[in-house]
Formats: sequence, C-alpha cells, structure tokens
Amino acid sequence: MSHISIAIDGPAAAGKSTIAKRVAKKLEFLYIDTGAMYRAVTLYVLEHGDDIIKDIASHVHITFGINDEVYLNDKDVSSEIRSPEVTNNVSRVSAIGEVRTYLVDMQREISRTSSVVMDGRDIGTTVLPDADVKIFMQASPAVRAERRLLEETARGNNIDIAALTAEIIRRDEIDSTREISPLVQAEDATLLDTSHLSIDEAEQKIIQLVEDKLEVQ
Ligand code: DC
Repeated sequence: MSHISIAIDGPAAAGKSTIAKRVAKKLEFLYIDTGAMYRAVTLYVLEHGDDIIKDIASHVHITFGINDEVYLNDKDVSSEIRSPEVTNNVSRVSAIGEVRTYLVDMQREISRTSSVVMDGRDIGTTVLPDADVKIFMQASPAVRAERRLLEETARGNNIDIAALTAEIIRRDEIDSTREISPLVQAEDATLLDTSHLSIDEAEQKIIQLVEDKLEVQ
C-alpha cells in the first residue's frame, strides 16, 4: 500500500502541533514538526554563524526521537529550540533558500518511506502538493497569543501577552511575505478555524476529513 500524507499548515500558535501530534498517534502515522527542523537549523546558525548555510548539509543533521524529541547532530535540543532567541530568529533563517531546499528534501524523503502527519507553513503548497488531506489551521490572534502565554508559562517563562502578540504578528508577517514558499492556504486545503474548538473537537474534525477522503478512494 502506498503511504498516506496529511499536511497541516497555518500561522504560529494556531494549534497545529498539538492537534497534528494527536491525529498522528490515533492513525499510527509518523508526526513531523517541520517548524522544529527550522528551529534546529536556527539554533545551529546562532551558535556558528550564517556562513555555515552555504554548506548546510555537512553541518546540520536533524533526527526525531520516538517521543518527538528533536536531535541536532545527535544532541537533544527539544527545549533549546523553543527559546526566545531561536523564536525571534527563526523566520529570518527559514526565509533563506539553501535552508529551505535542504529541509524540504528531507521532509519529502520522510514522506516517501512512511505515512505522515506533517505540520508547517508550506507543506500543502510546496513540500507535499499531492498530500491526501490538506488542512489550513487558523485561529484569531487573541486566541493564539493566549495559547502561547499558557505554553510559555508552563515552560517557566514569564512573558507578557503584549510581547507574545507582537511576536506572533511579526512572525506571521515575515512568514507570509517571504519570497520562497510563503505561508499561504493551498487552493485545495480545508480551512479549519480552531478559535472556538477544543483540542478534541479539532482532532475529531481532522480524523473525519481523513476518513471521508480514504473512503472515497
Ligand atoms: O511551527 P513553528 O512556529 O515552530 O515554526 C517556526 C518557524 O519556522 C516559523 O515561524 C516559520 C518557519 N517554518 C517554515 O518556514 N516552514 C515550515 N514548513 C515550518 C516552519
């Protein structure tokens, strides 16, 4: 049987990773957080400088652990890639062509060998244009800032809501106006606004879309 792919795109803090992870678990597919890959590259670039980008393949090796841990050159960087410094630089680094080519090739390779739920910004448009199911996940800026606040508080970071809102708006602006594969809803993606949905409800809606799609094939 050929592998199935589910693409989930959308702006920062729309609920993509929380929901994608649960959908993947339920379907027993691999979950791939492509934002984490861009964050890992950003961490490496912050530590070693932009010059490494021209030879990125020989510097940066990214793998995932069984509990979605992110390894950069065999070191678990799952927490470090969520630092404010990485968050503030990731949109700049992920707009660079060499970085995108390197990671997009890796993402496509993974989907060739496994059924995947992949979340990011350009999965339905660029990485997996033939994905079986495409979802564009949205939520209002106020709801997204509130979600980020809960996440940051859980990590022990004390960041105020105004700063988080500004960061989300800034990142969305860079991600959706960059030249190479900007954040945009694919024409054939289903829009899912999670502003007023619980995690269970959003998960259920995606599972339903997948079941509908697979039934008619
Ligand atoms: O999903 P996230 O917020 O962890 O993603 C971090 C950044 O990575 C995001 O602001 C833009 C970039 N990104 C991207 O350019 N393409 C993707 N497929 C995923 C993330």
